Amino acid sequence: MKPIKQQHRFYLFQQLIWGVLFSLLIAGFIIMALGALLTDKQIDQQLKQQARSITEGVVFSIEGLIELGNTGEGLIELRNTSIIQRVVQNYATLPLVMEVAVINPQNKVLAQSDTFPTRLSFSALPSPFTEVLDQAAQTGLPTSFSTKIDRHSVLVSVLPFSNTLFGQASRRGLAIVILDADALRKQAVQALSITVLIYIFGIALTLILMAMWIHRILLRPLKQLRNAIVSLNSIDQFVMPEGLPNNEIRLLAQSLKSSTNQIKQYQEFLHKQAQALEVAVQDLSAKNTQLDSALSELHHTQIQMIQSEKMSSLGQMVAGIAHEINNPLGFIHSNLVHITSYVQDLIGVIQACQEQIPQFPTTLQDKIDEIDLIFVQEDIIKTLQSMQIGTERIREIVLSLRNFARLDEAKIKAVNIHDGIESTLLILQHRLQATDHRSEIQIRKYYGELPLIECYAGQINQVLMSVLMNAIDALDSLNQRSKTPEIHPQIKIQTEEISEQKIKIAVSDNGSGMTQEIMSNIFDPFFTTKPIGKGTGLGLSISYQIITENHRGRLFCESEIGVGTTFTIELPTHQTR
Ligand SMILES: Nc1ncnc2c1ncn2[C@@H]1O[C@H](COP(=O)(O)OP(=O)(O)OP(=O)(O)O)[C@@H](O)[C@H]1O
Ligand SMILES: [Mg+2]
Repeated sequence: MKPIKQQHRFYLFQQLIWGVLFSLLIAGFIIMALGALLTDKQIDQQLKQQARSITEGVVFSIEGLIELGNTGEGLIELRNTSIIQRVVQNYATLPLVMEVAVINPQNKVLAQSDTFPTRLSFSALPSPFTEVLDQAAQTGLPTSFSTKIDRHSVLVSVLPFSNTLFGQASRRGLAIVILDADALRKQAVQALSITVLIYIFGIALTLILMAMWIHRILLRPLKQLRNAIVSLNSIDQFVMPEGLPNNEIRLLAQSLKSSTNQIKQYQEFLHKQAQALEVAVQDLSAKNTQLDSALSELHHTQIQMIQSEKMSSLGQMVAGIAHEINNPLGFIHSNLVHITSYVQDLIGVIQACQEQIPQFPTTLQDKIDEIDLIFVQEDIIKTLQSMQIGTERIREIVLSLRNFARLDEAKIKAVNIHDGIESTLLILQHRLQATDHRSEIQIRKYYGELPLIECYAGQINQVLMSVLMNAIDALDSLNQRSKTPEIHPQIKIQTEEISEQKIKIAVSDNGSGMTQEIMSNIFDPFFTTKPIGKGTGLGLSISYQIITENHRGRLFCESEIGVGTTFTIELPTHQTR
């Protein structure tokens, strides 16, 4: 199996961590924003409550002291002012308190703490401040407001209070507390920052724990699983990793294992099918080859049978004729000797009679004159001599015919190729003669010195016969069709010893010649350009087989349209078998 490429090693882990981190950060921001908002409101609330309780405390503490300090000389002169001052001072020490003051209805400060860096002069306060105080003193309604004093954000809480000693005055006394809003805000921000820090720490800790946990329950088993898959060399070698958690990952691994087993089974099945198919294909192709060779064998045998039948019929006929002629020829030839001797005897007797009898009877003399005895005496001997020559010639022809048939020679024998050519020409003699369409075909022989050639003589004669008959056919067809002035048809037969081991026989005609397309087919069985019934198309294919296969020689052809054709047979002088 191909190893899996390592990509995105911690992709899942990174995604998880980033996802969680992002969600926690969003949540953190939302909490911080909400916290800040709530804290602001809480600060306001807390400041107001604290200021209110201090003002109420101040009012409660000083009410009695005011009454105790009454001298009866007017409201303004109080004897207990130092105690009131201390009470006020006490309240001023409370956290966040910047200033505590008590003022009477006439706007006179009864007591004032001195905690503020620059002591506030209530009589010289800016106008919005004094207006608020005035309003509170007149309406008797507690009020509070935020403002800035010396660049400090402060909350000013004013609680009007009345006292019997203040008489029927329409105005009230005021207890004023100023609280440091900045300080409280600073505290709140500090508290919020600590909360946020704790939150961030918590997130970091959660992330680390989560990473460890994810690594333990998810990534490590996945990595084991992946390693098991990557290390597969073949599909059946999947080993379940040890220590996989008993969850979906284990289920995945088990499914993977069963899948690999199934794939393996399918692979084996496919492999077997492929093998069976291969065997079947091989079987089929072997049978095909057998059929092919059987077919070509059949074809071959068919051709051989046709031709050998043809040739053997021709051979048998020729041999039969030769035999039949040979017997009467034997009588004639042998009797001619006797007849010659008898005739010579008779002529001797006639000559003796003529010498002995000077005067024949008239009737006899007339007969002698009628037959021209002197001429007959001279001619009869010549006639007998020519008959003798004729019978000799017939004997030669019969010998040639038997030589052509060579029915007795199925084995390789060393023969004279020229004899074969001659006897074949003899058989074809009648076809060389002049016809209505052409003059006699001239045979030009250029015989070289040839050794005896080892061959199947009957087969070689068969080849010579095919080649010569084709040449004659070509010359016939040329002159039949041609309207041009007649050319002199001729066949040239040339023999030559090419080397010590090889001879060649070339048969050329000045016939029609062949096109390249015809030339490329002439050795194919059943290829013919001749009319149906005239040619079978087997002559050259059998000749090719005889020369190349049976004799290990060569048969080839050169041809030019309108010039002629040459067939060359090359034969080894010895057959090595
Ligand atoms: N000398 C030649 N000149 C022109 N064409 C030739 C010559 N010899 C052969 N051919 C061509 O080759 C063809 C095949 O010759 P082949 O001898 O095999 O068959 P065939 O002569 O047609 O028939 P068969 O010889 O069986 O009677 C011929 O039909 C002819 O077209
Ligand atoms: Mg032929």
